[in-house]
Amino acid sequence: MCGIIGYVGAGVTRGAGEDADEETGGDRLAVGDVIHQGLRNLEYRGYDSAGVALVGETSGLTVAKRSGEVDGLTVPEVPDAAHGIGHTRWSTHGPPTDANAHPHTDCVGDVAVVHNGIVENHETLKAELSDHAFTSDTDTEVIPHLLEEELSGETEASAADDGGDAESDLLAAVQRVEDRLEGSYAICAVREGDDRIVVARRGSPLVLGRGEDASFVASDVTAFLEHTRDVTYLEDGDVAAIAPGSVDIFADGEPVEREIETVTWEANAAEKGGYDHYMRKEIHEQPEALRQTLAGRLDVDAGDVDLDVSFPPGFLADLEEIRIVACGTSYYAGRYAARLFEEYAGVRTTVEIASEYEFGAGRTPDRTLVVAVTQSGETADTLGAVRRANAAGARTFAVTNTLGSTVTREVDGTAFIRAGPEIGVAATKTFASQVATLAMLSVAVGRDRGALAAADARTVLEDLRGLPGAVQQVLDEEAAVREAAREYRDSEAFFFVGRALGVPVALEGALKLKEISYDHAEGFAAGELKHGPLALVTPDTPVLAVLTEGGRARETMNNVTEAQTRGAPALGCVTAGSEFDTLDVAFEVPDVGVVEPLVANVYLQLFAYHVANEKGRPIDKPRNLAKSVTVE
Ligand code: M6R
Repeated sequence: MCGIIGYVGAGVTRGAGEDADEETGGDRLAVGDVIHQGLRNLEYRGYDSAGVALVGETSGLTVAKRSGEVDGLTVPEVPDAAHGIGHTRWSTHGPPTDANAHPHTDCVGDVAVVHNGIVENHETLKAELSDHAFTSDTDTEVIPHLLEEELSGETEASAADDGGDAESDLLAAVQRVEDRLEGSYAICAVREGDDRIVVARRGSPLVLGRGEDASFVASDVTAFLEHTRDVTYLEDGDVAAIAPGSVDIFADGEPVEREIETVTWEANAAEKGGYDHYMRKEIHEQPEALRQTLAGRLDVDAGDVDLDVSFPPGFLADLEEIRIVACGTSYYAGRYAARLFEEYAGVRTTVEIASEYEFGAGRTPDRTLVVAVTQSGETADTLGAVRRANAAGARTFAVTNTLGSTVTREVDGTAFIRAGPEIGVAATKTFASQVATLAMLSVAVGRDRGALAAADARTVLEDLRGLPGAVQQVLDEEAAVREAAREYRDSEAFFFVGRALGVPVALEGALKLKEISYDHAEGFAAGELKHGPLALVTPDTPVLAVLTEGGRARETMNNVTEAQTRGAPALGCVTAGSEFDTLDVAFEVPDVGVVEPLVANVYLQLFAYHVANEKGRPIDKPRNLAKSVTVE
């Protein structure tokens, strides 16, 4: 998840209006300054590197970029710049170096591109561009080189469109290049000698800002809200050319009209994208985050995944045990994944709380894979477990969100979950992306070991492919969850139950609620209720249950009924179409097989959020907690 911005206009006056200095009318911001400020506003989307490309009538194209945070970037003074683009990066392909920073350019430096998303077929395209000089490890760089070919009339399509003329138009070139890209993307492109920014959107957000004599484009309105509140959200497949005060939008090559909306948020809500809290924003970012997690990794037809990870020859075939180590929410993601590793990879898998982990006697280090699951990559307890595993001689592997984090430097291999920065202390979107990444890893290991048939792998991968859409359907039901939260907010305690894949989700649901609402919440394996916790159940203790595919719903419902018999209200997440008529509240989960409990978790996140919000808790910074726990 990266942040992109484009601005075309003559610069803006900051502070103009009633309070402005009468003579100066406020500070004048040049084009580069407007873009730099926009990048600061977008930095929540990534901060691995930053860069700008400015276009002036006589100065041509000027690019400046470097690794590190936006404030570390020196934006060049280009007095005649009339438009430009900028980027702040959350690395997915290639480490956070200067060379991998955006914008990326073509061979001759006439075209510059910024991109958010993942070009899944970049390796194929790069092979087709073998006579071009590439300077980065990114997937993005194929785009300016493809544009270069189109603009020089080298492709058959561009020659036909131009009636054989050598030169082509940037808008037409972007439209043709878009047809060749697979994956999710939002792109902004500029070209020397062209006074427009051409943008395209598929799967990654892009919004236009419409001023009187200036136009903006960005991943999020936050980038330009101080300059205009009139916005147009582009739809998937849209391509647009923006110029000062004008916007032309095309779908399937034909001009289209898109609605202009006025943003009404207050300034302090802007950085949260109009949401009251980062946590709610991040809950709603899950479809986008999951698309990024999965992008380019699923080969459904072949029943395989490409996680870009490798193991020594024969290591997976001889594997005796997988041991997952993690803390908190990441530990629950590990609990979900352990069942998948056992089923798909055919390997005994244990999950251990990192602070409790010891390699232990009677195990075979060179036939053990220790998988550290950590969003931040900096959790001291998890790093301690990795160090103990390394010292014992085991092979270690990390699943993390954070490129360059400490864990990535201490393990033998890493898979990135690509969820984008998570600011709320309560982990939400990273849990979903962790489980999705681990599920892919379990399929990869299973296929490598010959433990999982291609047909069975295809079923799992189909379920994963349906995940972003299923999560969106749950998010669309938020009003019903808010209503339930209002009804039960003052309960004495909350119990969460599930079986099989529903257990880690129940545990995670309880953690989320206690963490941000400060209410007593406990998660149990549903079958355990009758072995003790049932003594706590009263009409004032709602039971929230995971009753989906993958969660042995019928048996779980029997346990829920036992609680209902003692007067407890029951709320359940149920597979769409299944009939559990006796529930007090039923939330429907779309049919996505093995990932249904993960989708159900989104209801539990929303429930926790709304209970805490009703109580006025400081949701993004709950008392006594920190986002990254770097002490043991
Ligand atoms: O960065 P990590 O994934 O290693 O963090 C582990 C836990 O500290 C973290 O998941 C914590 O439990 C969350 N705040 C829960 O929402």
